[in-house]
Amino acid sequence: MKKFILMILVCLLGLTNLFAFTPPDEGMWLPMFVDRLNYTDMEKMGLNLTAEEIYSINNSSLKDAIVGLSGSATPGGYFCTGEIVSDQGLLFTNHHCGYDIIQQHSSLEHDYLKDGFWAKSFAEELKNDALSVSFLIRMDDVTDSIFGQLSDTLSDADRNSEIRKIRSELAENASEDGKYHVVVKSFFAGNEYYRFVYQVYTDVRFVGAPPSSIGKYGGDTDNWMWPRHTGDFSIFRVYSGPDGSPADYSEENVPLKPKHHLPISLKGVEKGDFAMIWGYPGGTDRYMTSYALQFQQDYFAPAIIELLGKRLEIMKEDMDADREVGIQYASDYAGLANGWKYYIGQSRGVKNLKVIDKKKQIEEKFTKWIEGDTDREEKYGKVLSDFENAYSTIGSAFKPFIYVNLALLSPTIVDYSQEFAQYLEQLKGIKENPEAPAETAAALREGIDEHFKDYNAPTDQKIMAGLYKMYHDNIPVEQQPDFFKSLTKKYKGDFDKMAQDIFKNSVFASKEKVEEFLDKPKARKLEKDPAFVLSSDVMESFMGAMGQYRATQAGIGSAEKLFIAGLREMNPDKVFYPDANSTMRLSYGSVQDYYPADAIHYDYVTYLKGVMEKEDPSNDEFIVESKLKELYEAKDYGRYGKDGKLVVGFLTTNDITGGNSGSPVINGNGELIGLAFDGNWEAMSGDIAFEPELQRTICVDARYVLFIIDKFAGATNLIKELTIIQ
Ligand code: ARG
Repeated sequence: MKKFILMILVCLLGLTNLFAFTPPDEGMWLPMFVDRLNYTDMEKMGLNLTAEEIYSINNSSLKDAIVGLSGSATPGGYFCTGEIVSDQGLLFTNHHCGYDIIQQHSSLEHDYLKDGFWAKSFAEELKNDALSVSFLIRMDDVTDSIFGQLSDTLSDADRNSEIRKIRSELAENASEDGKYHVVVKSFFAGNEYYRFVYQVYTDVRFVGAPPSSIGKYGGDTDNWMWPRHTGDFSIFRVYSGPDGSPADYSEENVPLKPKHHLPISLKGVEKGDFAMIWGYPGGTDRYMTSYALQFQQDYFAPAIIELLGKRLEIMKEDMDADREVGIQYASDYAGLANGWKYYIGQSRGVKNLKVIDKKKQIEEKFTKWIEGDTDREEKYGKVLSDFENAYSTIGSAFKPFIYVNLALLSPTIVDYSQEFAQYLEQLKGIKENPEAPAETAAALREGIDEHFKDYNAPTDQKIMAGLYKMYHDNIPVEQQPDFFKSLTKKYKGDFDKMAQDIFKNSVFASKEKVEEFLDKPKARKLEKDPAFVLSSDVMESFMGAMGQYRATQAGIGSAEKLFIAGLREMNPDKVFYPDANSTMRLSYGSVQDYYPADAIHYDYVTYLKGVMEKEDPSNDEFIVESKLKELYEAKDYGRYGKDGKLVVGFLTTNDITGGNSGSPVINGNGELIGLAFDGNWEAMSGDIAFEPELQRTICVDARYVLFIIDKFAGATNLIKELTIIQ
C-alpha cells in the first residue's frame, strides 16, 4: 500500500497487545530480532531457511534483496518497497508505486500509462531524476547511548533538543564519511531508538510496466477491495558505478551486482501456505487511545473526505474531457483518490468494528492496573486525563488548520508563486548583493518546464474556485483570516469570478508569462501579482493555523510515551512489536480466505476469468485489451497457468500497511510468490487495530506478473534474467 501524504501525529494503542495471545499474523517485526522473537514460530509455520539466511549483517541474506523506494538521495522514509529479482539489479515493485514515474515519462505521443512500456534492451531503459533505492546494511539498538547521556532534570523541550543532537551524532558516527546514509528513529513513541545504516543508489531506471488496463485494472472502484484482478507491478533496474558503488546517473554506470536476489516460484499458492512479507511499512497507530480515535472520527476523517472529495470531482471532470489533462493529473489524482477512499473505509471500519469501545476497554484495564499502587499512580496516574484534556481542545483548532491546508493551499498556483518569494527579496536587495537574483532566476528558469508539463491552468482555476468556496462555507467568519474576508467582499462571494481574475492577471498561470517575467524581472510586478499576493497571505494564515493546532497538541507526545511504557509494564510477558515507521519490517502469516459478512465467503485466489467477467468497455477502469482476451480464449498461459486456469491475485493474513506496497511475498524457501499491493475493505481500521479474522493482504501472483511480461508483452529479455523455480 503506497503511503499517502496526509498524516497527523496522534497517539496509539494496540488492542490485541493487551491480551496474552498475539496471533502470529499480527505484527510488523524488526528483522534484527527475528532469531530471538519470531524464528521458532516461523519454522513451525513452514519456513525452511535459517535465521541467518534471512537476516545477517555479515553474510548476504534475504534482506539484501529488499529495498525502500524514495525520491531522495538521503531518505527519511520510503513511499514503497521493491525487491531485486536478478543478478543484474532488476527490481519489481507495484504499478501504483511506479505510477508517478510512468506518468512523468508519458505524453500524448508516448502514453505509457495507457499503453505500457517495455525496454527491450538496457539502452532503452529510461533514466529518472528523483528515484532512489536504499539497501539496509545493518541496524542497531541505540536506546542506551541516548538515554545514558540525558540528565533527569531536563525540561521536555531541552530533553528533546538534546535527543535530537545525540541522534545526529550517532548517525554521523556510522556514516563512514558519507559512504552510508544513516537514520536514527524513535520506536514505541520515544521509549526506544534504533539506528539504520543504508547504502542508497540513485541511478534507477524504468524498465517496464503493463498498460493501466492491467496494472490498475479495476481502478478506484476496486481499490482497497477484494476480489481483485489487478496486475499491479512495474519494473526498474538499479545501476551502480563501474566499481559497484552508488553513483548518480552516468552512461558509464553498470547494472548493479546485488548481494542477493529473489528466485521466483511458479509452484503457486495453497490455502494455509506459509507467507512472509518484507518491506517498509510507513506508519500504523496500533497504540492509539480512544480519545485520539474519537478525534479522528469526528474531525480528521470527515474534513479530509470532504475536501479531497471536492478536489477529486473537479480534477476528474477535466481529466475525462481531455486525455492530455488526464495524463498530467493522473498521478496526483490516484494518490488523492487512494487517501480519500482510505479514510472513508477507515471511518466505516472504526464504526462497524467498534474500535473505540475496544480502545476504551484497554484504557479501563490500564486504569484498574494503576489504582491502589502508589508508584504506578505517581508515574501513570495522569496519562489518560492528559489525553482527554488535549483532545478536548484539539478539534476546534484542527478544522481551520486542515481547511487552510487542503482548501486554501490546494491550487498549485499558490505553491508555485511562493517559489518566487526568495527571488523577490533578492530583487529588492540587489544593491547589496547584485549576483544573487541572477542565480535564483537561473534555478527558477530551470524548473519551468517541469512545472508546466503537469499543469493545466483552467483545472487549477476551478480547484481554486471550488475549494475557496468550500472554505468560505465551512469556516466561521470569525475564524477566517482578514485577506479572505476582503476577497469575499470584493467579489461578493463569487469565487468563480475571483479565481478567474487571479488567473487572468497573474504571471504564474502561464509558462510564457513566467518566462517573460524572468526576462525582465521587476520587484514591483511580483509584489502586485495577484497569485503571489494571495499565496503570501495564505502561507501566513497557514503558519498561524498550524501554530495554534500544534499548541493544542502539546503534551500528547509525552503522554504517548508514558502510556506505551505503562502498557508494556502491565503486560510483562507479552512480546510487543513497534508501530510501523518506515523502517524495514518482516511480517509472517499464511495464505487464507475470509468471511467478509454473514453468509458471504471470499476465496483466497482470483483468476483471469474474473478479469473477463468484470470487463466494461464503457468504463475506463474496466477495459480489457484484445491481446489479453486472445490469450485467455486460447488458454495460452504457458508455464504460468494450471489446469487451464491462470491465477491473478491471492490473499494472505500478513500484517502490512502503506509503504509495504511492492513488497515481496515470499514462501518458506525464500522464493517470490507474489507482490503485496493492498488491504481489504472490511478491515480498513486495521492500521489502528489489527483484525485477525478479517484483515487480509491483497497480492498479485508472481505467475500473473511473469505471464504478462512473457506472453502478453513478449519481453523475453527480462524473463531470461530471472531465476525461475518450476
Ligand atoms: N490502495 C493501494 C495502496 O494504498 C493503492 C492502490 C492503487 N490503485 C488505485 N486504484 N488507486 O497501496
